[in-house]
Amino acid sequence: MLMIDADQGVRRQSRHHSYLLQLLGVREVAVAVNKMDLVDYDEARFRQIETEYKSYLEGIGIQARRVIPISAREGDNVATASDRMSWYDGPSVIETMAEFELPESPVDRPLRLPLQDVYKFDDRRILAGRIESGRLHVGDELVFSPSNRTARIASIESWNTGEPAITASAEQSVGITLDEQIFVERGEVASHVSDAPIETDVFHLRLFWLADTPLEVGKTYGLKIGPRHLNATIERIERVIDVEALSDHEATKVSRDEIAEVVVRTNQLVAIDNHDNLPRTGRVIVYDRHITLAGGIVSMGSYPDQREQITIRSSNLTEVDHGVDNTRRAARNRHQPGVLWFTGLSGAGKSTLAMALEHRLFDEGYQVYVLDGDNVRTGLNANLGFSPEDRAENIRRVGEVAALLSDAGLIVITAFISPFRSERQMVRDMMAPGEFVEVFVDTPLSVAEERDVKGLYAKARSGQLKNFTGIDSPYEAPETPEIHIDTTAMSIDNAAEIIVKHVLDE
Ligand code: ADX
Repeated sequence: MLMIDADQGVRRQSRHHSYLLQLLGVREVAVAVNKMDLVDYDEARFRQIETEYKSYLEGIGIQARRVIPISAREGDNVATASDRMSWYDGPSVIETMAEFELPESPVDRPLRLPLQDVYKFDDRRILAGRIESGRLHVGDELVFSPSNRTARIASIESWNTGEPAITASAEQSVGITLDEQIFVERGEVASHVSDAPIETDVFHLRLFWLADTPLEVGKTYGLKIGPRHLNATIERIERVIDVEALSDHEATKVSRDEIAEVVVRTNQLVAIDNHDNLPRTGRVIVYDRHITLAGGIVSMGSYPDQREQITIRSSNLTEVDHGVDNTRRAARNRHQPGVLWFTGLSGAGKSTLAMALEHRLFDEGYQVYVLDGDNVRTGLNANLGFSPEDRAENIRRVGEVAALLSDAGLIVITAFISPFRSERQMVRDMMAPGEFVEVFVDTPLSVAEERDVKGLYAKARSGQLKNFTGIDSPYEAPETPEIHIDTTAMSIDNAAEIIVKHVLDE
């Protein structure tokens, strides 16, 4: 129920409040135009406000179910119809409230049980929390995110009840025990394996900034997701939304009462949902030293769900040692192994540079091999496309292959767009320090598009090619690459020279 002052009309604050509701997922409202007594119960005044506000609300996707002229002080149209506004024949405020429909209960949605705490009683460990959506049964297999551990529900604990429950559902607070003693902590989210939350360390947040000090890029804040607290850095402000004009603009900070879309990077993996899909586990609070700075809703946009990247599906594995150790391989090859990881836009010149470099190093006596995107994608990765998850899997596999070849003693050059920072970091973490050398093949989008060697940018612009990096799929440039090649200022030969020199120095 939104209130507007008949005397004042539709103000900035009215738009602000409704935008906030929209942000929170409210799609249906009623509007009470109050203080009609101050405007002599004038129908024209009311109609003007009604038209103006309704059109604003429709513009942001909210339907005004009723617009009611009232005087709260005089009681007109509050509980009963007013005879001072006979031109209005709709329901009163009270009647309108009865018309609101309860939101659909999230019982039939995927199970989400964020753990508020883990209690130890005698030899039992009881996991306690409130079921935000879905339902669970004794015997169900659960996966806990982000630890990714699984176990079955052994019991649903209860106090002072007769028969113990065998099922529980959304909006109930429960304590459960598991059939295995796995280590799970407060803040993890239990779900069914088949419909688990997204695991990621980067996502888009549409937030409403409440604090006097503005939000700044690069700053680290506290983030509360359900019962979990962690640190997050604001990586980018994508746009600030003007709730008045419903337009948006670029900005370097977000001031009080502004709504903005930002990219957030967390310091650990988080279990989260797209707000559009599951609102209760798709919203977060941004805080600093216990002061709430913003509330926001999550969307993944083009970022991949990283769960597949960290899921190991086999058990009963025992690693075996090699018969030849790596120092002997290096001694025979007469050089250290390593990975030169090229990243950059399509058409930046990665492949050309990689092949030129391979040639040079080979001639110098190095064991060297190029893994190239367009080549690997017709073989090993032939089953992958360009969705965020497929790109992440592409990079995971290539990272593993590069790590193996490097372990075998080779110098590996990889030429993949590898647009996401998290995945490049994951590959870096697979290798020994110093073995992973990130080479940013830096060509501005405008230049790559101008060259358009394969004609793909033209296709992407005309809509024939979807998810094209730089056009409708993001590219996250490295922040601190070991080598930075500016292709607009340097020939292929010069660039190869710089990298050869780096290899010789290492
Ligand atoms: S990555 O994003 O997964 O690292 P990768 O380097 O393997 O990409 O493949 C990129 C190559 O695939 C491009 O050079 C281009 O030739 C081709 N390609 C086809 N479709 C796309 C697309 N939607 N986005 C980017 N490259 C594409």
